[in-house]
Amino acid sequence: MKSKRIPYGKQNITKEDINAVVDVLKSDYLTQGPKIQEFEKEFAKYVGSKYAVAVSNGTAALHLCNLALGVKKGDKVITTPITFAASANSVLYCDGEVIFSDIDPDTYLLDINKVRELLEKSPKGTYKGIIPVDFAGRAVNLEEFRKLANEFGLWIIEDSCHAPGGFFKDSLGKIQNCGNGQFADLAIFSFHPVKDIATGEGGMITTNREDLYKKLMTLRTHGIIKNKNEFLNSISFATGNNDQNLNYPGWYMEMQNLGFNYRLTDFQAALGISQLTRANEGLAKRKRIALNYYNAFKDKSYIKGQSGYLDGHAYHLYVIEVEKRLELYNFLKENNIFTQIHYIPCHLMPYYKNKGWREGDFSVSENYYKKCISLPVFPNLTEIEQNFVINKISEFYNE
Ligand SMILES: Cc1ncc(COP(=O)(O)O)c(C=O)c1O
Repeated sequence: MKSKRIPYGKQNITKEDINAVVDVLKSDYLTQGPKIQEFEKEFAKYVGSKYAVAVSNGTAALHLCNLALGVKKGDKVITTPITFAASANSVLYCDGEVIFSDIDPDTYLLDINKVRELLEKSPKGTYKGIIPVDFAGRAVNLEEFRKLANEFGLWIIEDSCHAPGGFFKDSLGKIQNCGNGQFADLAIFSFHPVKDIATGEGGMITTNREDLYKKLMTLRTHGIIKNKNEFLNSISFATGNNDQNLNYPGWYMEMQNLGFNYRLTDFQAALGISQLTRANEGLAKRKRIALNYYNAFKDKSYIKGQSGYLDGHAYHLYVIEVEKRLELYNFLKENNIFTQIHYIPCHLMPYYKNKGWREGDFSVSENYYKKCISLPVFPNLTEIEQNFVINKISEFYNE
């Protein structure tokens, strides 16, 4: 039996989503209108942060975070090789230097002990920051990373593209949502269609730091300031008139820093707001799918590792580690099941190899890459489809 095409991830667009977008298309604002602020407010509420800044995609979010934190030529920033290239590339956009550090074989997340080893090998001040990634939707324990970062004077950008709705429990047993700004200076999200909240392209930065929030808001639109209390040029220059009783005119604004156009549009924000109302529902469905995979595979000898079933995991991806991964991938593809590999270790991309990274630098990440395969997980994956996937994998391994 062949099934209809089953991708590894897929957006879930409802009639309400479509109506929300159409309403904006009929309104006065396609961009820079009221939906942006509304989305930011709702998203901040969802993750529990003080501030949120909507941007055009997750990569732009990372770039702005590096800029706001002042990354400059030669600044060394640590991240994981098992991530989408943007986590690392964003440091290079600011002329910084990416230093990879290996993952933990059980969590697939940046191994804090290896990061500590790295930090202890060099004088304090050598490294500026860490970008831990909530890979696959599993929340990094940022309380521990914060302690380490404080010891060495580092900032933290949490790359939470995979984990809206994810959380970890801190040392007091308190739930700490991904992106809530309790431990990381900044957190970023992506609303690419395979993510739990989708706007086509789209991203968000969350933070509890007002200073960074203010910087991000201007960097998002060309470094332009519109608040008259912050203007640097004189009123007489702005008005073109020497009358001392005048104020700054309505048109006046100042570009005080080099920023970008990284804005989200209003119709994307409307889609985001609508999607956000169903985010927890989507998460619950992803968790149910993860539990089914976990139960199906937990006793199988061909499974060398898997995402497992965990509280707080947002299950953007469900990863299993297997031998004969290539053959399994092809077999599933022949059966219309389109799995994916997350990720080819970033340090072994030809671009990063040109910077001196080599095979053998990070054995855990490299071994993981040889075996990992991401199975279909998305809210509308039916039980029949999931069972088809599970049965085909069992059939492949004759178990
Ligand atoms: C971990 C991670 N970081 C950053 C990004 C970049 O996000 P975007 O595709 O929205 O630019 C992604 C997107 O796939 C991602 O998975």
